[in-house]
Amino acid sequence: MIPPYRVVTPRLVLRCWQPTDAPRVVESITASLDHLRATMLWAANEPQSVEDKAQLLRKFRGQFDLGQDFIYGVFDRDEANVLGGCGLHPRVYEGGIEIGYWIDARHLRQGYATELTAALTRVCFEVLKLDRVEIHVHLDNLASQGIPKKLGFIHEATLGRRCPSPNGVGARTIWTMFRDAYQPTIAVEAFDCLDRRVL
Ligand SMILES: CC(C)(COP(=O)(O)OP(=O)(O)OC[C@H]1O[C@@H](n2cnc3c(N)ncnc32)[C@H](O)[C@@H]1OP(=O)(O)O)[C@@H](O)C(=O)NCCC(=O)NCCS
Repeated sequence: MIPPYRVVTPRLVLRCWQPTDAPRVVESITASLDHLRATMLWAANEPQSVEDKAQLLRKFRGQFDLGQDFIYGVFDRDEANVLGGCGLHPRVYEGGIEIGYWIDARHLRQGYATELTAALTRVCFEVLKLDRVEIHVHLDNLASQGIPKKLGFIHEATLGRRCPSPNGVGARTIWTMFRDAYQPTIAVEAFDCLDRRVL
C-alpha cells in the first residue's frame, strides 16, 4: 500500500515534495549546510542549484508515485516554510519500514523531529498496517538517537562498520518499535493521493 501523500500534525505538514518546492528547499539546506554535512552523506553535494534540486524533487516525486520510496517535505502548517525533510524507506526486511529525517538548523530542539516521527509511526501502524518501524542511526549521532529513545523505540542492535557517514564508516544503531508495543502519542490526519482522509 502507498503511504499517505499528506500527513498533518499539530504543528507540521509532511507532504510529497513538488518540483515547485525547489527554491525553498535550496534556501533551507543552504542555511543548514554545516549542520547537515556533519551527518548526512548527501549534504556533500549541497548546495544544489534550484534547477538541479527541481530535478531531484521530480525523482523523489516519481519514486513516491511508483511506490518505491517515500520522501516527504516537512513544512509548517501553512506550508510557508520548509522545516526539514523526512522519509519512509521500505529498504528493511519485509513487514517493516525505516524512518529518516533532517531538520533545518534554524529550527532545532523544538521537538519537530520527534513530532514527525511520532506521526509517521502512527501512519505505519494504523494506515500501512506494518509490524515494525525502524530508525537506523550512526553510533556517534546522539542527537538523532534522542528521537527513537524519546518515543519508546527499543535499541535492538549496534552493528559494527555498517553505517557510512561523512567521517567514515562507523557503527549502526538500530531502533525498533514493534506493533504490539505501540501506543499512539499524537493527533494525526493523513490523506491519500485523491485527498481522501485515511487517518
Ligand atoms: C537529529 C535531528 C533530526 C533532531 O531534530 P530536532 O527537531 O532538533 O529534534 P527534537 O527537538 O525532536 O529532539 C528530541 C530529543 O533528541 C535529543 N536531541 C536532539 N538534538 C540533540 C542534540 N543536539 N544533542 C543531544 N541530544 C539531542 C534530545 O533528547 C531531544 O529532546 P529534548 O529537546 O527534550 O532534550 C537534527 O539534529 C538534524 O537534522 N540533524 C542532522 C541530520 C541527521 O542527523 N538526521 C538523522 C540521521 S539518522
